Amino acid sequence: MSTKTGEGFSSSFGAIMAAAGSAVGLGNVWRFPYICGKYGGGAFLLVYVIFVLFIGMVLMMSEFVIGRRTGEDPMKAYTALKPHHPGWKYVGLAGLLTCFLILAIYLVISGWTLNYFWESLSGTLAGIADTGFEAHFNQFASSAGRPVLFIAIFLFLTALVIVGGVDKGIERVSKLLMPILVVLLMALCVRSMTLEGASAGLSYLFKPDFSKLTGEGVLAALGQALFSLSVGMGVMIVYGSYLPKDDNLLKTSLWITLCDFAIAIFAGIAIFPAVFACGQDPTGGPGLVYQVLPVVFNSMGTVGRLFSIIFFLLLSLAALTSAISLLEALTQWLSGDRIGRTASAIVMSLIVIILAAAASFSFGDGILSGVKIGGMQLFDLLDKLTGTILPPVCALLTIVFFGWFMNKEDIIDELSNHGTVKIGYFKVFYHFLVRIVAPLALIVVLVTGIIGN
Ligand code: TRP
Repeated sequence: MSTKTGEGFSSSFGAIMAAAGSAVGLGNVWRFPYICGKYGGGAFLLVYVIFVLFIGMVLMMSEFVIGRRTGEDPMKAYTALKPHHPGWKYVGLAGLLTCFLILAIYLVISGWTLNYFWESLSGTLAGIADTGFEAHFNQFASSAGRPVLFIAIFLFLTALVIVGGVDKGIERVSKLLMPILVVLLMALCVRSMTLEGASAGLSYLFKPDFSKLTGEGVLAALGQALFSLSVGMGVMIVYGSYLPKDDNLLKTSLWITLCDFAIAIFAGIAIFPAVFACGQDPTGGPGLVYQVLPVVFNSMGTVGRLFSIIFFLLLSLAALTSAISLLEALTQWLSGDRIGRTASAIVMSLIVIILAAAASFSFGDGILSGVKIGGMQLFDLLDKLTGTILPPVCALLTIVFFGWFMNKEDIIDELSNHGTVKIGYFKVFYHFLVRIVAPLALIVVLVTGIIGN
């Protein structure tokens, strides 16, 4: 079976860049460093690595198999594999819904990032006193017009790439942006590590402190592993449906996982040594990037301005390739046999920007900050749903489907490219990891996380 729409990636390298582009995003540069620091540095890292390799990567491979085998969108893929059990398509639907919510909150933060890139370029940030950044961020993020303007610009760029097509748009842009991103990140790492007092930052990031690794921390590690690899919500089913037929799925999953992991670690190395070297508070949480880093950049004088531009450009590019994959999943689903790609991309963008704007208005002291849903502002609710709850639930359903309900011969056939690739280690993977370890871990962590809350 080939992709129904005729869309697809033209090469394995392009496919890896596109999927790594999806995986590498705000989650790596903005979220991973502060979560890692918060839950015990090296101790968190250890748990994180285990989740990434044994659950995240296994899920990615499963989603690729489901996607490439059927060549369908996440909903139709489940139906194609289990025609007599139509209920499974709701797993696909739940994934797509998660993508929609993630895209909304992603756009808000991407809009902030783009604004900070602009303010680094224009010199606005350089003109703010060290103590003024918190107020600057709060005032900006709580205002109505400016964040939405930047959300709209960012979404426009995202939609433009989608309209270009899978190989001529997504693949081409990812092949260009991912290497640029790595170069920018390396430049920041070198600068950060060579500052005086940088080693304190490295030990904050890497030295294990098991006392900080609570049950909540373990749940956060799993949530982050799934979020960071973009698995559990069907996006990799979508990209799987575009993968070349002769692509080695296990190898591809491994490469993407390694890229994603390495970039998260390097983001930590780019950030914490500099934060410590400048005597700033590393526990800034979500505001770290917008409130603490500008202080760090300003303390470096003129080159600081350059590094500030580099950093916010890096973050914008990372966010862009992820937003592209989210909008692509929604676009592919809507276009189906109904309307064309361009029209679906436009319709989806118009719907999602409404939710994104509402989330932005609900942030801080925004005009909708008084509106509470379940006691939470919309922004915080979306953050919680997409960060810790929905991805593990969707991931659990996906892996149970793959391990217990999908035809094993189909899986072997697809993973081995009809017997042309050796997959001797498959049995270990399948019986142990896919059927038992991954679902159990997901259940345990979900239950403890829910009870713990
Ligand atoms: N992996 C992305 C990041 O680290 C975030 C993300 C989660 C995502 N799920 C996704 C991106 C689905 C694209 C598609 O920032």
